[in-house]
Amino acid sequence: MTKATSGPTTALYPCPAVLVSCGIGTGANIITLAWAGTLCSEPPTVGIGVRPSRYSHGLIREVGEFVVNLPRADHVWGVDHCGTVSGRDDDKWAACDFTRLSGTEVEVPLIGECPVNLECRVVETVSLGSHDLFLGHVMAVHMDEEVLDDDGSLSVSKADLLTTLGGQYHRIGEVLGAHGFSRKR
Ligand SMILES: Cc1cc2nc3c(=O)[nH]c(=O)nc-3n(C[C@H](O)[C@H](O)[C@H](O)COP(=O)(O)O)c2cc1C
Repeated sequence: MTKATSGPTTALYPCPAVLVSCGIGTGANIITLAWAGTLCSEPPTVGIGVRPSRYSHGLIREVGEFVVNLPRADHVWGVDHCGTVSGRDDDKWAACDFTRLSGTEVEVPLIGECPVNLECRVVETVSLGSHDLFLGHVMAVHMDEEVLDDDGSLSVSKADLLTTLGGQYHRIGEVLGAHGFSRKR
């Protein structure tokens, strides 16, 4: 087995491609993030890594809240737009034809078109180097009824979510098995 070795880098694949809404009212903005992950179940906590130079960074700091919106594969244009243009220069809601929806726990608007929305409150900010880590407690989760299975859980195939891998956007594919399948005869 021959391996090519490189210096230290963040070679953890795949990453989600999420749309994070931040700021409030007409000043609300959207940023695309790949540095986003689930960190703790109780209390439900997510982390997002945001460069201090991003316009969104200041909004998240100021308001102390953000919403993680999971885009569908057919939102890929909007995901790319929100990740290549700054809210300093553009109304990304209008450019992507996204609808601001009110949440139940935070003032930051949800993106109505995204099938899953996690309302988060910042509980800690850690400066890591190039990026600051915002740790957010998940205060409420909203899912479109059309993407739910009969038992109320998220259907990955119905939600048709996005991921990023090797500088490209990918659609999540084939189901290979349910958790615990290896223990069943
Ligand atoms: C797929 C993708 C993933 C990205 N992930 C991150 C990220 O995790 N953290 C970050 O600070 N910027 C990330 N960016 C860059 C920001 O989304 C981009 O600089 C954006 O224009 C900043 O918007 P703002 O100035 O309105 O906040 C990503 C961009 C793309 C296209």
